[in-house]
Amino acid sequence: MIRPGLDPVTFVAGTTGAWAIDRVTAIVGPPLPAAARLEIHRPNATADGAWSLKGVAGQVRYVEAREKGDLNALSPPLGRTEATQGALIPIRKSVEWWSLAQDERRAIFEDHSRHIAGSMKYLPRIARRLFHARDLGEPFDFLTWFEFAPEHASAFDDLLATLRASEEWKYVDHEVDVRVSR
Ligand code: HEM
Repeated sequence: MIRPGLDPVTFVAGTTGAWAIDRVTAIVGPPLPAAARLEIHRPNATADGAWSLKGVAGQVRYVEAREKGDLNALSPPLGRTEATQGALIPIRKSVEWWSLAQDERRAIFEDHSRHIAGSMKYLPRIARRLFHARDLGEPFDFLTWFEFAPEHASAFDDLLATLRASEEWKYVDHEVDVRVSR
């Protein structure tokens, strides 16, 4: 159980961990170094791997009450036995994004890009967790984590293609797609 805002989670890539790293793709900006396995440490872990990224499952910023109800109703838990594939996608957004006001960011995120409305269709096939990393001084602003069964991998790729073509993604200046399986 991850307590929002309390427990830092560290994704450590190295030689140990429950997840095998199948491929690492740089979407925007530089890649991450190659490694064999991914370990998810919580809460605070010292890292001795190829790389490690830390985030906190903080409070949501853009979700409105009606959306929250829908998300709670549809979102599956992490750790389902059939969800043997995963993706860790660290993302950084540009200075331009962070200089916008909250209402301007919400307008781009949802009114123009339909991030929540469009992605909700993929629930409960995809289990997800968002970690905030920017305020920890990390190289990425967000660590996004997804788990799904193999038969839903192509649906997940469709969702990614839609999001990456959205207005919101014009503000993404570093993104790496790390695919794992167990
Ligand atoms: C599986 C379906 C998905 C759903 C239901 C979903 C839903 C959400 C919601 C509700 C938020 C807002 C959290 C808040 O209010 O702070 C959010 C944020 C975010 N999501 Fe998704 N999402 C999904 C898939 C994805 C995918 C595939 C990516 C791509 C890697 C992604 C990347 C992000 C990022 C980076 C944020 C943070 C945006 C920001 O705060 O600027 N999401 N998502």
